[in-house]
Amino acid sequence: MAGTGLQRTLSIVKPDGVRKGVVGEVLRRFESAGIRIVAMKMLRLTRKEAEGFYAVHRERPFFGSLTEFMSSGPIVVMVLEAEDVIARNRVLMGATDPKKADKGTIRADLADNVERNIVHGSDAPDTATAEIRYFFSDLDIVS
Ligand code: RTP
Ligand code: MG
Repeated sequence: MAGTGLQRTLSIVKPDGVRKGVVGEVLRRFESAGIRIVAMKMLRLTRKEAEGFYAVHRERPFFGSLTEFMSSGPIVVMVLEAEDVIARNRVLMGATDPKKADKGTIRADLADNVERNIVHGSDAPDTATAEIRYFFSDLDIVS
């Protein structure tokens, strides 16, 4: 889809991606696609912070397991910037379940299962704005 203009989205390399040593591979895929990384840091979420980030999923059966996983080790969070980057990042990531993801996507190539799926990406402009704000202040983002 064209014409959505310059956008920003939040990307996370989840604890499984850091543990597997594929941070560089994920960044390479973004950069090769012409997507700019305009903020980045490594941190480890507390359980409470993971619950806050995934609050929209709190009624889902996988919420406990997901937040335990997301707080199980360091993650790399970044802000990506490009034309139509929210949808383009979701294409690069592939479907949530790596078994259903297209070959050549991050999840199909690198992920173990539907929970341990290497990356997170915002799914819409409003969630992108809220998720970027969860981790970064305006001063952290280069222009
Ligand atoms: P994400 O938010 O992490 O970018 O992933 P997504 O949009 O593709 O998937 P979403 O439906 O938002 O689910 C958030 C994360 O929860 C875990 N999950 N586990 N056990 C399960 O059936 C299940 N379903 C989802 C995954 O880590 C998923 O990325
Ligand atoms: Mg999601």
